[in-house]
Amino acid sequence: MGKYILSLDQGTTSSRAVLFDALGGVAGMGQREFTQIYPRPGFVEHDAVEILQTQLYAMRQAVHEAGITAEDIAAISITNQRETTVAWDSVTGIPVCNAIVWQCRRTAPICEWLKAEGLEDYIHETTGLIIDPYFSGTKMKWILDNVPRARELAEQHRLRFGTIDTWLVYSLTEGKSYVTDVSNASRTMLFDIRKLDWDEKMLDVLGVPRDALPQVVESSGVVGMCADSVFGREIPIAGIAGDQHAALFGQCCFERGMAKNTYGTGCFILMNTGEKPVFSDQGLITTVGWKIGGKVTYALEGSAFNAGSAIKWLRDELHLIQNPQEADLLAETVPDTGGAVFVPAFTGLGAPYWDMYARGALLGVTRGTSKAHLCRAVLESIAYESLDLFEAMEAGSGTKISELRVDGGASRSRFLMQYQSDILHCTVRQPVCLETTALGSAMLAGLAVGVWDSLDELSTIWKLGHEYQPQIEPGAAAPAVKRWRKAVERSMHWDT
Ligand code: G3P
Repeated sequence: MGKYILSLDQGTTSSRAVLFDALGGVAGMGQREFTQIYPRPGFVEHDAVEILQTQLYAMRQAVHEAGITAEDIAAISITNQRETTVAWDSVTGIPVCNAIVWQCRRTAPICEWLKAEGLEDYIHETTGLIIDPYFSGTKMKWILDNVPRARELAEQHRLRFGTIDTWLVYSLTEGKSYVTDVSNASRTMLFDIRKLDWDEKMLDVLGVPRDALPQVVESSGVVGMCADSVFGREIPIAGIAGDQHAALFGQCCFERGMAKNTYGTGCFILMNTGEKPVFSDQGLITTVGWKIGGKVTYALEGSAFNAGSAIKWLRDELHLIQNPQEADLLAETVPDTGGAVFVPAFTGLGAPYWDMYARGALLGVTRGTSKAHLCRAVLESIAYESLDLFEAMEAGSGTKISELRVDGGASRSRFLMQYQSDILHCTVRQPVCLETTALGSAMLAGLAVGVWDSLDELSTIWKLGHEYQPQIEPGAAAPAVKRWRKAVERSMHWDT
């Protein structure tokens, strides 16, 4: 049997594939960005077919780069941007509309209606979630209400909804497997996180037919075979997890109280809370971390919607930089932001504020504010958002976080990581392998097909790459944090 795991990491802005060897080393990699569709302010869409095509490209590129053959691949794993919702016809396999992306705000009116119906407590207690357009359930209702073909297909029992994991598994198995794992299911607002089943009441409230939803499976286990049309031979798909859950697993946060922060498109702090769900009143989400061999691990999550996306905004919309490293270098050239504060609320604010009407803000700008100040303000804003999540996490879990494990593209910024450690006053530890999300899902698949045997064995794969210790006195950042919170307040309730 082959010893490599091909991990598909389908993110918000690019489809990636990472090939891991049995020591957890990266043997090959592929990546392709795809189109971000913004039909109206606050609306974000993806073309699910383009997602599939770019994912196939990345898979083949990773295998080609490693110079191996399909015989060498023991299993495929999938990790994905969560909540993004695809709807397709089960007969043709063709999507009925663009996928509605997790960041999309179009279902704010449906959320208002859910609140007016008095469902906040029920939704939090049953699904672990907070009412917000972020989650898939209201996106499904929107599609049923606004795309006539979807309604027709639903009436004929031909409509299939899925998050991106489901869409990829369905497509790669040529329609043979229609599944999602517990971690992705727990982001839909339709899933009872204790019973681990779709919740009848929420299906009814949002009008989603049960037969338009996939079967929910464990995170580790063979769910189907990737068709031989992809690599010339069938390969088992053996692990699925939402990207943030996969990162928690890939960071080997296997013990209760261990936490990680991923600096991707957004920032997501997750803490392992063990075998029972922990509910917080600090604006955190309760979610299923993973389920392996019948055992469920829960997590608490603080989600900030925009982080690395703000650096991309500097590059793609403002054309201030050509690449993220340039933002880092520019930020280092100034001692502070000169009083400027940036709030990256492009698509509203997530935890702990949960304001779907907030929008981005740049305050404290003077005639002397330069490109370097702006780059620094953007990087600092990512650290402040994470501070808000971190404080909510400590308060909500009743656990002091002694070290924060970090990963994701923007964690490559040394400036950001040092600033993060300074304002959290906490050790920030970065593993050698920054492909933690892809590694986490590879580990889940590797456990299923016998490449690895136990969590203890997996723990030996985690190696420290860089450690950041606070370099300022406790409390020294308090005035800056106060200014950040003032700016957040100004950005709120904007788009009403
Ligand atoms: O919940 C959204 C999250 O899964 C997106 O992740 O990696 O694309 O920032 P990422």
